[in-house]
Parts: sequence; C-alpha cells; structure tokens
Amino acid sequence: MKAPRKFFEPLAIGAPAPLRDLPARLERMIHFVPPHNEKVRAKVAELAPQVDVVLGNLEDAIPIESKEAAREGFIAMAKAVDFGATGLWVRVNALNSPWLLDDLARIVGEVGDKLDVVMVPKVEGPWDIHFIDQYLALLEARHRVAKPILVHAILETAEGVNNVTAIAAASPRMQGMSLGPADLAASRAMKTTRVGGGHPDYRVLGDGAGAARASAQQDPWHYTIARMVDACAANGLKPFYGPFGDFSDPEACEAQFRNAFLLGCAGAWSLHPNQIAIAKRVFSPDPAEVAFAKKILAAMPDGSGAVMIDGKMQDDATWKQARVIVDLARQVAAKDKDFAPLYGF
Ligand code: GLV
Ligand code: MG
Repeated sequence: MKAPRKFFEPLAIGAPAPLRDLPARLERMIHFVPPHNEKVRAKVAELAPQVDVVLGNLEDAIPIESKEAAREGFIAMAKAVDFGATGLWVRVNALNSPWLLDDLARIVGEVGDKLDVVMVPKVEGPWDIHFIDQYLALLEARHRVAKPILVHAILETAEGVNNVTAIAAASPRMQGMSLGPADLAASRAMKTTRVGGGHPDYRVLGDGAGAARASAQQDPWHYTIARMVDACAANGLKPFYGPFGDFSDPEACEAQFRNAFLLGCAGAWSLHPNQIAIAKRVFSPDPAEVAFAKKILAAMPDGSGAVMIDGKMQDDATWKQARVIVDLARQVAAKDKDFAPLYGF
C-alpha cells in the first residue's frame, strides 16, 4: 500500500506538486466539441463564455481517419482561444488504443499549461489511473507545466463500476467521474440501443389485474449513479451524469439530469447546443430552495441546535444541506449573470 504522504509528492522530478483540494469551479455542463471540424472550431471562442467547460473529444464519435486531425485541431483551438473562467478539457482515446500515447504527449507538450482536465474513457480500475498519473507527471516535468493536470474517469464498464471506489481514491489528480451509459450498457449486456435515459420496458407494475394496473418506468441508471456519487463524495471528487443521446427529447434529458443533480451530481455532458440551457437550468439550484436554505442559515448562525421554519424541523444536518445549496448558488451567481439576481446575493 502506498504511504499516505507519498500521494502528495510529485511522481516525476520537476512535475508540479499534486493539489490537496479541487479548484472551486463551476462545471454544470461539459460541452463536447469535435475538434477536427474546422467550422465547429471557429465558433469555440464565441461558445466558451456560454458554457462552464469546453471539452475537445478525441475518442468515440471521431472517425478513425480523423483521429490525428482531432488531436491537432484541439491543440490549435486551445492555443487560439482565451477560455477565461471556462474549463478546457480533452477526452483522450482509451488506454488500449494506438492513439493515447500521442494524444497525451502532443497535447501536454503543446498546451499543457492551458489544459485543466484529461477525461479518460473506459477506466477499469485504479491501475489505469496510476498509468495516466505517472505518464502525465513525466510530461508535465518535461514541458515545465506549472499546475497539475487533473483526471476525470468515465465509468462505462462493468469492471469499472466494480472498482469505482478504488478508482476514485487512486490519485490526488482525480477531479471526478462521469456515467458512460452507452458503453456501460454494452459492457453489461443490457438490452438497449439508447445513450442514457430510461427505457419503456424497464418498469414496475402495481398490484391488481388487467389493463387498469398502474405501471411506471424506472430509472436503469439509479444504482450506478448512486455508487458513483458515494465513491466521489467520499474522496472529494465530483460526479457527473454523462451523455443523453436523444436530442429530440429535451424533457427526458432534463428529467435524467435532474435526478442526477438531486442525488449529488455536479453536472452533465452537453452534446447538442440545446442541452446547454437544460444543464444550466438543472444544475443551478432552484431559487426557492436557495431562499429557504438562506432562511435556515440565518436562523441557525452557528449551525447548532434546532429550530422550526415553516413547520419544518431544522437541525445540524439540514444546516449542512443548506450550506451545500447556498455555496453552489454563490458559485453560480459569481459565474453566471443571469442567475445572480434570482438568488439575491
Ligand atoms: C460515453 O462515453 C458512453 O459510452 O456513454
Ligand atoms: Mg463511451
């Protein structure tokens, strides 16, 4: 077992020291762009202020013949655009692919100082994170990168879900994790062709008989999201809903994102421009909840004891819940002018 102190020593001579806490950043949506597409790239400067994270996708959905163009396009985009307070992430190719070594080597070499997070797909266990951790440290040292590049794992294999806690605890570079429902469904032999969301056949039937029996669709992702949230929260990382692939059903997308938000997720992927507004709406706390949370904090300034507000009991635990909501509202208000007046800060 690695000694606790060693976790905070750089893994290569000259690499920056690992962070002890995550940088406080708003990450309501991770907006995917295909960087080999010049037309899309040309619009990124305009897009960046409207989203919390811009991610250049090099992995699935990028045709094999465009893998190098996507990598070089990402580098060009990273150099050309001032991302300001918006995060810059890249999703690299998988650990067993012929592209990963050059994805990381080229990108850290060219734009390591601008890159916030590397999203690693198909992570199966802590050994995958250890490899990325060491390789990034060597690249950071070689290219004199000043701040450590963080790592985000996609939870999208049955083995990864089995090892989710060990993945979360594998390195201080870990920023968070996303549910990858498409690959995870395939890995588990789930009988669906969808990318995220529910399924009309996954349901519970109420008691009774005949056509009048009540029946409701259930959420096939509930179990995985709950495990991911616990693994992340226990290790100080952020959990995320991943992709929702049916762009023609914004209502279902919003419902999935909202379940994830209520269970503890910080954000979701946006694969289509219309999902940016959905993620903003969902992952910014409800102004009525914020107002109520502020009441709790005002009524219990030091967070101890018990009070009644509007007939509801408040104590140390609800004070902590209120802190989560008000802290998030402050972060949203600081980044997003549209929300600041709704929260009354
Ligand atoms: C995302 O990568 C997924 O497989 O759902
Ligand atoms: Mg995937």
